[in-house]
Amino acid sequence: CGIVGYIGARDSQHILLEGLKKLEYRGYDSAGVAIHTNAGLRLRKAKGRISELENRLKMQPLAGFAGIAHTRWATHGKPSDANSHPHTDNDMKISVVHNGIIENHLQLKEDLEQHGYRFVSETDTEVISHLIAHHYEGDLAATVRHAVGKIRGAYAIAVLSEHEPDKLVAVRWASPLIIGVGDGENFIGSDIPAILEHTRDVYILNDGEMAVLTCDGVELMTLEGNFIAKQLLRIDWDLMRAEKNGFDTFMLKEIHEQPRAYQDTMRGRINAGQEIVLPDIALTSAEVRQLKHIHLIACGTAYHAALIGKTVIERLTRIPVEVDLASEYRYRMPVIGENTLVIAVSQSGETADTLAAMRQAKYWGARVMAITNVIGSSVAREADDVLFTLAGPEIAVASTKAYSSQLIAFYLLGLYMAQSLKTLDDTAIAGLIAMLEKLPLQLVSMLRNMNPIRQVAERIAENDHLFFIGRGLDCSLAMEASLKLKEISYIHSEAYAAGELKHGSLALIEENTPVIALATQEELLEKTASNIKEVKARGAYVIALALEGCTGLEKVADQVIYVPRTHPLLTPALAVVPLQMLAYYAASFRGNDVDKPRNLAKSVTVE
Ligand code: G6P
Repeated sequence: CGIVGYIGARDSQHILLEGLKKLEYRGYDSAGVAIHTNAGLRLRKAKGRISELENRLKMQPLAGFAGIAHTRWATHGKPSDANSHPHTDNDMKISVVHNGIIENHLQLKEDLEQHGYRFVSETDTEVISHLIAHHYEGDLAATVRHAVGKIRGAYAIAVLSEHEPDKLVAVRWASPLIIGVGDGENFIGSDIPAILEHTRDVYILNDGEMAVLTCDGVELMTLEGNFIAKQLLRIDWDLMRAEKNGFDTFMLKEIHEQPRAYQDTMRGRINAGQEIVLPDIALTSAEVRQLKHIHLIACGTAYHAALIGKTVIERLTRIPVEVDLASEYRYRMPVIGENTLVIAVSQSGETADTLAAMRQAKYWGARVMAITNVIGSSVAREADDVLFTLAGPEIAVASTKAYSSQLIAFYLLGLYMAQSLKTLDDTAIAGLIAMLEKLPLQLVSMLRNMNPIRQVAERIAENDHLFFIGRGLDCSLAMEASLKLKEISYIHSEAYAAGELKHGSLALIEENTPVIALATQEELLEKTASNIKEVKARGAYVIALALEGCTGLEKVADQVIYVPRTHPLLTPALAVVPLQMLAYYAASFRGNDVDKPRNLAKSVTVE
């Protein structure tokens, strides 16, 4: 999760530890350092806080002028000393820290084992150190280049070797990495805060670029080995801003991390654009065919993701799905048969209500799967199968990228089940996969133009209450949009099924009451448009969310915000972004602390 590297004339242990502490805000479950000492390459690692590692280093210090360090957020293998980085080869000559995911690590591991390499951790990273050891012939940079040529996936890697202790090698592909340039010393960081105390002059590596650092200089080259010249960038941010990668808040940073979270959650789970493979879950195709019922249990935002998950799974598989608030599940004595699969959805994996419901489901005999973002969490440990979202640590209390990554997990799971059941033919599956793979790029272009939604937020920021309405998936999405707005702006809002408003709360619509009408499901457009007219007739100010190219709504709504087209089932994964931004801007206009809203905790461990 966090990488720091140092080479220079100062005590590297101290610089590496301080660098790791500056990355602490990102969340992690273990930490470690490797330093080249007089006695050769030496490591210290510890599960838990950086202070644990610091204590170990106090008892057994490592003196040396070159080192690499890492804070880990588990993606393969539980948090433990052995799984912490740095990883080494069997001869302890090469040490590696890595952020990202190696998709083909199982294959590489098998090959390396056949060559006699022994693996001591459950991580995907360890293959890199053995690969480098295997190919090393006297030129570390060339070997690293050669080794990463064999790797598929995402990586930011820093390497320190006893063979060439006067240098560090760093390489980047789809995971951020920067090089800090000092006077007689140079640095590596996964993020700017790690090195900001020592230098403000940095090179930002692009995908496919690498750097070789010595005390006296930095050489930059491509993965083909061609030297490149790059502009040195001067960072004028303060530390607070650097922690947010230049964004004003963690929430805004995390909203912008969604394209990456989608890619990471899909990584290694789509085979040649044709088929979904879920190597981490044990549920076989034969077992999928046995399933009679699926129950989804979750709280808060995860519950809203589950509502979308229900529609996705039912449409793709025709297996009936029920969704329950975890805190209510036990009390209704749900009917659980032998062929019921219960899926607990939880970002943190520690929510007490979700855990209690899941334990009860197990007690009643259900097979339990988890969809969670935290490896090693209680929910992950107690479930029979876990489908991890790989959104990375979420710091802002209001969940954004964890929610949308849960949607991606449901698409993957739904398609995986549809493959087993043959409820969709291969062409239909490939078509959906192609659209799924396009989502990250569509998000990137959406995020470039959030001005229209900012204007909407400015308009509603002074209101005391408003409505979100929608039908079908838009109704489920409206619930999340409404929660997000309430959580951080403290504006009261209600999410209503568009067709239900007339059976109840229509009386609350007065002159200028804002109504955000989600109308991204084209087959329901006409009906939603009639509901918009109903509220308009009572004086509402209507902002509609519609698909690009949809022309019907300008006449009925006061303002229309457009969302790119994709498959209707996938649309919520795009449409959620302007709604997150609406909440964000509204809260900002009201001067609220967006990242730490009042009365809300990131993870609630009481029932
Ligand atoms: C808390 C948070 C919510 C979150 C819910 C479920 O109430 O404030 O934002 O959605 O817990 O959290 P989980 O970690 O289980 O997804």
